[in-house]
Amino acid sequence: MTIEVEPLTPTIGAIVNGLNVKRLSDSGFADLWQAFVDHSVVFLRDQGKLTPEQHLSFAKRFGEIHVHPAARGREVASDGVMNMRITRDTEVAAGNRWHSDVSCDAQPPQATILQLHTIPTLGGDTLFSSLYAAYETLSERMKVYLDGLTALHSGEESFRHLFKFSDSAGEGWPENHHPLVRKHVDSGRPVLFVDREFTRQIDNLPREEGRALLEFLFNHTERVAFQCRFRWTPNAIAIWDNRCALHHAMWDYWPSERLGRRITVKGESPVVWQLTKDHAPTPERPTVRLTK
Ligand code: SIN
Repeated sequence: MTIEVEPLTPTIGAIVNGLNVKRLSDSGFADLWQAFVDHSVVFLRDQGKLTPEQHLSFAKRFGEIHVHPAARGREVASDGVMNMRITRDTEVAAGNRWHSDVSCDAQPPQATILQLHTIPTLGGDTLFSSLYAAYETLSERMKVYLDGLTALHSGEESFRHLFKFSDSAGEGWPENHHPLVRKHVDSGRPVLFVDREFTRQIDNLPREEGRALLEFLFNHTERVAFQCRFRWTPNAIAIWDNRCALHHAMWDYWPSERLGRRITVKGESPVVWQLTKDHAPTPERPTVRLTK
């Protein structure tokens, strides 16, 4: 079976046609993986509702299953299957802010695989933003300034204060330091690895300078020039690469419901990008240019 990859923008996102994830051959998976690495997020429509077992076995093609810190130590969801359930009674909708899933973990997830079964008539899109484009469009002076810096990513504010998850594993919420610029191990390209949800401070800079820089970097990663937006249809699947893309689940459909299931796949400890040693492969597609 040949797949058809239909890019949504030159920068990020592609619809993949011609695949059924319930019957995926090794060559079909190899094509899907290549599209995932090339486009940072891929979308497959009309996949039929997956059972949790089918969803898990598909996710395992990408790697070992990641368990969310809020599910650690619990029986429910400790297999890595998370129900996504937004209803009229929801107070804090998951994902309604730009983020990379659980970037506070020591080894933040590589892929997230989300299927939505029930969607609002209108609204509830998910937006994605390219962290490759965010890095590429920084000035050369800024790239030099960021070279070798690390930042603290913390789950404390989000998981304890915002979502009010209980720490059932009794281990506290993850806090880890990651390079500000990481090397994507599959594409070999540099990534500006910050997100508003979890990145708390830049290490070894004066406090105010670090805060101002971080705010600039958050705003920069959220620029419309780096984005695509997916309009869901029932039983579509989105697979995004948390190592090089942010996402934002738009909660603009209250009081309607939006229901589905999500599984994340383990990633590696972020690898630092070394400006003077690493060389990014020449891009084969149009790149974003910002107005001077
Ligand atoms: C998430 O942040 O994982 C949720 C994304 C979505 O619901 O669209």
